[in-house]
Amino acid sequence: MLKIDFNTYLKSKNFEKYNTQVSHIKNILDNGGEMLDWYDLSKCISPKEIDKIKKVSQYIKNNCDIFIVIGIGGSFLGAKAVIDALSPYFTKNKPEIIFAGTSLSECYLKELIEYIDNKRIIINVISKSGTTLEPSIAFDIIYQKMQKKYSKEELKKRIIITTDPEKGILRKLAQENDYETFDVPVQIGGRYSVLTVVGLLPIAVAGYNIDDLLFGAKNVSIDLAFQYAIIRDILYKENKLVELFTFYEPKLEYFVEWLKQLFGETQGKNKKGILPSSSNNTRDLHSLGQFYQDGNPIIFETIIGIEANGKLKNNLYNYAVEDINMIALKQVAYAHLKVGVESNLIIIDKINEYNIGMLIYFFELAAAIGGYLLGVNPFDQPGVTAYKKLIENELNK
Ligand code: PA5
Repeated sequence: MLKIDFNTYLKSKNFEKYNTQVSHIKNILDNGGEMLDWYDLSKCISPKEIDKIKKVSQYIKNNCDIFIVIGIGGSFLGAKAVIDALSPYFTKNKPEIIFAGTSLSECYLKELIEYIDNKRIIINVISKSGTTLEPSIAFDIIYQKMQKKYSKEELKKRIIITTDPEKGILRKLAQENDYETFDVPVQIGGRYSVLTVVGLLPIAVAGYNIDDLLFGAKNVSIDLAFQYAIIRDILYKENKLVELFTFYEPKLEYFVEWLKQLFGETQGKNKKGILPSSSNNTRDLHSLGQFYQDGNPIIFETIIGIEANGKLKNNLYNYAVEDINMIALKQVAYAHLKVGVESNLIIIDKINEYNIGMLIYFFELAAAIGGYLLGVNPFDQPGVTAYKKLIENELNK
């Protein structure tokens, strides 16, 4: 269940002037087109692929101690976001799930190689292009280690490649060696790919119900996503240039990292866009709360809250911890509103697959709609090629 409050912590907004744009954008989405397959959930994943994911994930669970997911950006953040949100804090998943290829830390790779030494490994390399620097290096190093440890036949049972259905170096490697593969849908970009094989295989390995996740996504109201996108657009035009995705449950930390990529890459182009940032509250209130309340007034917030139903009592107050957390959420939002820092409030009743699925699709819709409202192509990312080229030039000197 998604409860949306676009009133209590916002000044009133005039939606009517957006009517023409709304029907225009609805037409674009409904007609489909380049990079729009994520919008139609039946194009994200087919029943046949769901069955295959279930079979392969069960195989992975039975046959390894550590499942390494190698990927970056849209090929990693969605799975990590969902798994972290759903996982207990102190009990490790079985198999243990480790992400690699998300940095160029030599230290991380060295320690990882040592750590997996005597353990049974299965890896899932996820890269649509197959050429991304960080996962390519991580895969190379882990693959070398696995080639020493396992026979060619055994490697076939331990390497799973998720990549473009036809093109690329990883597809070629899989074909040459008969490795298990999954196809990244051609018309879905990384940041919109969590509800495809990219996100769903690791999520299934972690033991979470991918049917419920997809069912949640199917039940999102597009009108609410339009409302949210329009509010963001109005705030942007009022010079609110930073959106803080604020959460009061630290398990959502990576969900918000995923949101930052989704909105940042979708809308930050042509010298336009709202900078997505995040606030892990109440922790960050003790470091950044001063700025939010009293600093440069360029911020608005989108708060993701969880309904309070606290049980854990304490001797200090007559409220359970969860209820205190909700009181904090509301009072902080009021304090911010008093100085013009407005907030959208999005509440779920609990963290489960269904609600996380709803949140994912709601935000995907809102990000794309926001891109159209801003007059940018929501699905390209020309800005990331500039630095990549310079790094490549230097590496190939
Ligand atoms: O959203 C995107 O397109 C990017 O974040 C990509 O997912 C990321 O750069 C990884 O690309 P690839 O899957 O080609 O390795």
